[in-house]
Amino acid sequence: MSLARGLSTAAHPDAAPDQAAQTDRSAHGASRSVARNGAAPACAFVIFGITGDLAARKLIPALYQLHVNGELDARTVIVGFGRKPLTDAELTGNLHEALAREVPDLDEGAWRSLAGRISYVHGDYASAEAFGRLAAALEDLDVAGRVYYTATPPGVYGAIARSLAGAGLARASEGRFSRLVVEKPFGTDAASAKALNEELLEYFSEQQLYRIDHYLAKETAQNLGVLRFANSMFEPFWNNRYIDHVQITMIEPMGVEGRGQFYEDAGILRDVFQNHLLQLLALIAMEPPVRFDARSMRDEKVKLFSAVACPNPQETVLGQYVAGNGMAGYRQEPGVDPRSRQATFAAMHLTVENWRWGGVPFYLRSGKRLEAKASEIVLQFKAPPHVPFTLPSPVRPDRLILRIVPDEGISIRFNGKRPGQRVELGRISLDFSYRESFDGAIPDAYETLLLDVMEGDATLFMRADEVEAQWAIIDPLLEYATAPGTTPLFYEAGGRGPKAAYALLESVGRSWKRPAGVKTD
Ligand code: BG6
Repeated sequence: MSLARGLSTAAHPDAAPDQAAQTDRSAHGASRSVARNGAAPACAFVIFGITGDLAARKLIPALYQLHVNGELDARTVIVGFGRKPLTDAELTGNLHEALAREVPDLDEGAWRSLAGRISYVHGDYASAEAFGRLAAALEDLDVAGRVYYTATPPGVYGAIARSLAGAGLARASEGRFSRLVVEKPFGTDAASAKALNEELLEYFSEQQLYRIDHYLAKETAQNLGVLRFANSMFEPFWNNRYIDHVQITMIEPMGVEGRGQFYEDAGILRDVFQNHLLQLLALIAMEPPVRFDARSMRDEKVKLFSAVACPNPQETVLGQYVAGNGMAGYRQEPGVDPRSRQATFAAMHLTVENWRWGGVPFYLRSGKRLEAKASEIVLQFKAPPHVPFTLPSPVRPDRLILRIVPDEGISIRFNGKRPGQRVELGRISLDFSYRESFDGAIPDAYETLLLDVMEGDATLFMRADEVEAQWAIIDPLLEYATAPGTTPLFYEAGGRGPKAAYALLESVGRSWKRPAGVKTD
């Protein structure tokens, strides 16, 4: 009997189903390890919501940097689309002002040559007439394809896709690719993410959709794959036989930065847990993919997410910052309800129910207005089975630390003998820093992502089933967080977060590693 008989014959989500996807098919199967070779294919890069914050802080600086690096083809143009009536000159004037804030050593000559390629179309996201004008602006360009970027509020993603299709801009034609980049948040729960997927998939094929999670394009996040799958020394201990638990921390000193209204709907669970933290968890816990390409990577991540049990709300700590250290509390932020129960902090315990990780807790925490900006992953080893020394206190556990922010790098902490006649233990650290070990600037995550879209590489983007699987893990917590009896614990702005988050680990004899950049007491 053939072993393959039981396998599903349903179409694979990364299989190119129609002509529109043909131009992207090879890219979805091409390995990311291939070095970039010169500039990306020439394209019309359309930014919906170009007058907004995301375009000013991330997209234009990234495109400017790519231009300076010679990675943008000379024929590539940027077309902004927005609801504000502006002339091309007004738009580029505003973008220049914002760019000068982001890039202190701005090369004015380079900016002028990029600005000369930026134009603006003004109109509503549901207006057939405005999209007709957009189509006319794109018509005779000598480019290999079009990239559409939704830097807008999520409520208009569907309208944009529909209007693009209505104007004949969604399908690839005459050998030109057509790709839609969808920013986070992608839905507000599993049901709305599914509905949004269905809506977008009416007009674009899966191969044309690039759902963003910028954490995946950070160098250390990408290096997790290289560390695990280009070395053989880590794999033997990467499992429940040697690892006691895993910690994933992402903390920030910033508050909601003028996004009070957005945060009232999102909260910390939707803003960073459903996406960034779960993606980091996937990179740590997934099985080795067959290839480092979109299909293999995403297949493995989806498999991993299906093994993650929903966190127990009773073991989840939700917090909200209150005024402290000269900073306002969350409830005083503009756009926030003065009685808001929205969480700006969460700490939780997740389990991965498979052979590799059964029995190993994964602790995740993240919060706004904490004492430092830090993102790191800690794999803590089990205690040695027997310690043959007489020591005043138990040996401290070995740790492998993967630092994403600040100072991207890797450290190994273990015990060593202090010099002297007695056996006394001291703590040793082996440290690797990206900046010190490799020459060259570390690209911003958005530079990597924009280039990937132009090249048709979806490895660092979310597939439909992946986003839905991530929401399925977080949904029960969202229900708990919004239930009438749930109130977040208050913590002081600029402080260490709710005490209960520490108790979560201390109650089982563990403790959070203090992240890099956080002052010792
Ligand atoms: C974004 C969140 O996705 O990630 C923000 O919406 C958060 O709230 C940001 O501050 C953190 O990203 P980074 O790259 O600054 O660590």
